[in-house]
Amino acid sequence: MTTPEPDRPASRTAALVCQGRAAADGRLGLGRFSDPVAVRLLRPDEQAVVEQVRAGRPPQGWTARTAYEAVRASAEVMAARTVAVDDAIRAHPSPQLVVLGAGLDDRAWRMPELDATEVWEVDHTASQRDKRDRLGALEPRARAVRFCAVDFARDDLAAALERSGHRRDVATTWLWEGVVPYLTSREIRATLQVVDRRSGQGSSLVVAYQAPSLRAAAGRRLAELLTRVGGRTAVTSGEPWRSLLAPRRVATVLTGAGFEVTSDEDLLTVARRLTPAPTGRVSLRSGRVAVARRAR
Ligand SMILES: C[S@@+](CC[C@H](N)C(=O)[O-])C[C@H]1O[C@@H](n2cnc3c(N)ncnc32)[C@H](O)[C@@H]1O
Repeated sequence: MTTPEPDRPASRTAALVCQGRAAADGRLGLGRFSDPVAVRLLRPDEQAVVEQVRAGRPPQGWTARTAYEAVRASAEVMAARTVAVDDAIRAHPSPQLVVLGAGLDDRAWRMPELDATEVWEVDHTASQRDKRDRLGALEPRARAVRFCAVDFARDDLAAALERSGHRRDVATTWLWEGVVPYLTSREIRATLQVVDRRSGQGSSLVVAYQAPSLRAAAGRRLAELLTRVGGRTAVTSGEPWRSLLAPRRVATVLTGAGFEVTSDEDLLTVARRLTPAPTGRVSLRSGRVAVARRAR
């Protein structure tokens, strides 16, 4: 039984990673990464920072500079992460794609490879309402898109998917990108139990997660502090990291959910295969993408 959701604003980290994709488009991951849709999902103030980053024009002032650096760093991470995830999705086509914690993910509107795929976008109500407003009349490239409002901390994901037409006997590609860090270990386990029960033969699971890193955590804290000193709240402050997992732990929990990890790479390794070479190191080194296939 689902209780009403508490007043919760739309995710700001979802907007930050979308800004990163918009800032990277045509500049990073040349020939491998392209996301012309991201900028169309941004509000004017979010687009303004993206333009500064694209022009390499850092603004004056502490607060504006902190926002600029956040989008610049996000662009490097998102170019590599998007290449790794898109490759995994192309390599594991299924009639069903479930995007867990979809935020402003635009694959259903960007990837022609999804034209025969039905996509379920799962996120909490406020983030989903915000996304639908941003999408306006943008037409999906996927065969269909179903919005499925679920708070992983409170709601019954299995029932919500069932109600919105997801079939448990058909293969699903599950995408869990940039969401695991925000969940408790109980929420991670509960979500994976549903993934396990609703994965038909041939299913796969793509997880972009965050490994423990003192330097990445310290960088996040510093950005929050600098923004607070400038009289604003940082994008990340309402969305704390709760679960940073080592690759071995990820392999264990995915195995427990009936999946076998076939690859697990850090984003610095991915970024080093891209042009131009990355300038940052810390966030890329601790960000990872694991790909797993149904083992039973
Ligand atoms: C950093 S964003 C990533 C969005 C998207 N996957 C991407 O990579 O562009 C994290 C997303 O997880 C969602 N999220 C976090 N905790 C959640 C919860 N308890 N229930 C539902 N969604 C949640 C947020 O609303 C947000 O959209």
